[in-house]
Amino acid sequence: MSDIIDNIIARVQVSPIFRSREYMRPDYVPDELPHRETQIRALGDILVHAVKGEAPSNVFIYGLTGTGKTAVTKFVLSNLHRRAPDKFSFVYVNARQSDTPYRVMADVIETLGGKVPFTGLSTAELHRRLQRTVNDVRKVVILVLDELDALIKRHGDELLYRLTRINVELSVSRVSIVGITNDVTLVDELDPRVKSSLGEVEQVFPPYNAVELEDILKRRASVAFKLGVVSDEVISLCAALAAREHGDARRALDLLRVAGEIAEREGKQVVRQEHVYQARTEIERDRMHDVIQTLPFHSKLVLLSIVEGSKRDRSLTTGEVFEIYRGLTRKLGLESVTQRRVSDIVNELDMLGVITASVVNRGRYGKTKEIKLSVDRKSILEVLNEDERLHGIWS
Ligand SMILES: Nc1ncnc2c1ncn2[C@@H]1O[C@H](COP(=O)(O)OP(=O)(O)OP(=O)(O)O)[C@@H](O)[C@H]1O
Ligand SMILES: [Mg+2]
Repeated sequence: MSDIIDNIIARVQVSPIFRSREYMRPDYVPDELPHRETQIRALGDILVHAVKGEAPSNVFIYGLTGTGKTAVTKFVLSNLHRRAPDKFSFVYVNARQSDTPYRVMADVIETLGGKVPFTGLSTAELHRRLQRTVNDVRKVVILVLDELDALIKRHGDELLYRLTRINVELSVSRVSIVGITNDVTLVDELDPRVKSSLGEVEQVFPPYNAVELEDILKRRASVAFKLGVVSDEVISLCAALAAREHGDARRALDLLRVAGEIAEREGKQVVRQEHVYQARTEIERDRMHDVIQTLPFHSKLVLLSIVEGSKRDRSLTTGEVFEIYRGLTRKLGLESVTQRRVSDIVNELDMLGVITASVVNRGRYGKTKEIKLSVDRKSILEVLNEDERLHGIWS
């Protein structure tokens, strides 16, 4: 049977599809970023002072997901750094991966050559170490804090406040901060003091349109795929599908990469439009899987209630969902959340695209919500079934 594996290996070793898959990876930073000249220039203009050993203004960058914020920032900083390596240092931290203030500070300290135990230091001690480490660098330090949204929502902006004040306590080094988020409303949630110092300069990244996405895909595909494997029609389709959502380059690249993988799996020599449609379904299924799997427990219960209720083959009201949900919590011996909260959860599930909840006017009976599944029952149950706490409670 090991010949099965041999065949699989042979297929990827001499892929008829990919020349260098590497270039399609989402975290790969390409040498060229078409349609981001303006943003590269603007960010370069601000950060260039670091090349002279002076601290640039803090920058706050925002824009929807996949608009090139991370790629442009890394591109600008690594290019500046290559030209003046001893004038400044930069530290990149992804606050979604390092998702507590402790982890963020520890990452910064470690990247700059300091040491931190995994947990256990007090915030004050951690802050002292950060100051000491930064001072020892004796240079300008540009601190990139990417994907700040989740961190701030969960832990507030205390960390940002401390970081924007750090220069006051430093003698030799200077810190500048580049904050990045895809949540435009985040800016308004910040403490005004943080907002004004972090947002000394604000930069907005607009979404790409279909034509721009086509250019981006063409350049990436010309290195990643073998000649003649990806036609212009396939590129246009990926660009059009991604532009229809909001001009997300990551989405466009994912579609093309997965389409290539599907073609490869099927032993084809070229990528066809149908592979792109298949890729869309696959990506959507994976996304839904992750969304449902990571729901809080009571949200899973509410979703399960909707699945149970929709057996009746008509839309449900919030009241009906609440009743089924109460039945489930009773079965599990758990305390239930309020109907109000269930209604909020229903709205959250709607925003995540798992269900649709639309308000309909029933004349003199008033307004009511009609709740329906937007993913098929079986797929939802499959994911919910991965949660042991839910085993055996549905029929
Ligand atoms: N102009 C471009 N040319 C080539 N590739 C690009 C361009 N813009 C973005 N990309 C690629 O698209 C993907 C998404 O871009 P990036 O990670 O920079 O988005 P982002 O704005 O940081 O999104 P998020 O808010 O989700 O973090 C990356 O793989 C990146 O290399
Ligand atoms: Mg990013």
